[in-house]
Amino acid sequence: MNDTFLKACRGEKVERIPVWFMRQAGRSLPGYRTLRKTHSLISLAQTPELAAKVSMEPVELLNVDAAILFADIMLLPIAMGIEVKIVAGVGPIIDTPIDTPEGVSRLEPFAAQRVDYLSETIRILRAKLSVPVIGFSGAPFTLASYLIEGAPSRTWLKTKRFMLEHPAGWKKLMSALSDGIIGYLQTQINAGARAVQLFDSWVGCLSPEEYRAYVLPHVQRIFTALKKTGVPRLHFGTHTAGILDDFANVDCEVIGVDWRMSLSEVKRRIGRKSIQGNLDPVMLLAPWHTLTRTVDRMFDEVDPKKGYIFNLGHGMPPEADNSVVRKLVEYVHSK
Ligand code: CP3
Repeated sequence: MNDTFLKACRGEKVERIPVWFMRQAGRSLPGYRTLRKTHSLISLAQTPELAAKVSMEPVELLNVDAAILFADIMLLPIAMGIEVKIVAGVGPIIDTPIDTPEGVSRLEPFAAQRVDYLSETIRILRAKLSVPVIGFSGAPFTLASYLIEGAPSRTWLKTKRFMLEHPAGWKKLMSALSDGIIGYLQTQINAGARAVQLFDSWVGCLSPEEYRAYVLPHVQRIFTALKKTGVPRLHFGTHTAGILDDFANVDCEVIGVDWRMSLSEVKRRIGRKSIQGNLDPVMLLAPWHTLTRTVDRMFDEVDPKKGYIFNLGHGMPPEADNSVVRKLVEYVHSK
């Protein structure tokens, strides 16, 4: 069993720097692209044998130190009774968004049987892989943003307006989603996920005051509820420089950051937690010497063999060349 990823999450010393890539099990992979010709993203995720194949592809092709469950953050709202379409090249679309406080009651309570397919995928992965399987969920803010906007947004205007106009409805929405997230991650851990990551991809659009008032208590409750499972908990977001002190002040083992902050600053600000990140995904497309110079600089800023996991600062771009990514994994492993 290769457990360097789990050791790094727990802040222990490792012989080799662990690597995985957010969104590694997706659009940049040949096997995934072939499967997508005959299956939608959701039907792939709901067919355990195929989902497991997609999760394993980067482990075999890139030699990464962890596999991520092949799923999507929108599978939880689907399991809570919301109709969601995933449109290729666009993202999640909801024809009837939850854009009023009354709409919040459309969310049904989560039940583990509604994601039996994910548990089965994790069991297959546990049996076949010698690296840990990472489970994940969207965080309440990021999920709420899709539910309220009905489509991907770059301004989150409707989301923030709902939050400011209807604080009680917002609290109800965040509480219902947080209950669902706790059940959803607990289900993945019960099936064999060895670590869980909460993706709060879009929360960096909030001011520190808003984050503290409208989001932080819910995220704290999620992490605290999962403590008893004993598995490492990772908290990831982008554009979090302005909220990092609060963002990192939850009961978890690892903070994931993007490239807009230097790792030395992150290290100084988050205290004893482990760090994951933070290569700009675009660097995968840069000349090799630029890429390795950037990676070397990252390693100068942290102790890369203690409490550190190499990753991108956000998802793998579909344009990434797998031979370059594999060479990068070798480079990191050689350090
Ligand atoms: O490699 C992996 O990480 C596999 C599993 C995974 C998917 N989505 C599959 C997927 C994970 C971890 C996610 C997380 C996810 N989904 C996030 C959080 C991480 C992030 O990138 O910020 C978010 C915000 C979503 C919502 C979502 N799903 C968007 C915005 C999109 C469209 C844009 C895109 O990336 O293509 C999706 C679709 C999606 N989810 C695809 C995959 C492989 C592409 C579907 C296709 O083939 O067209």
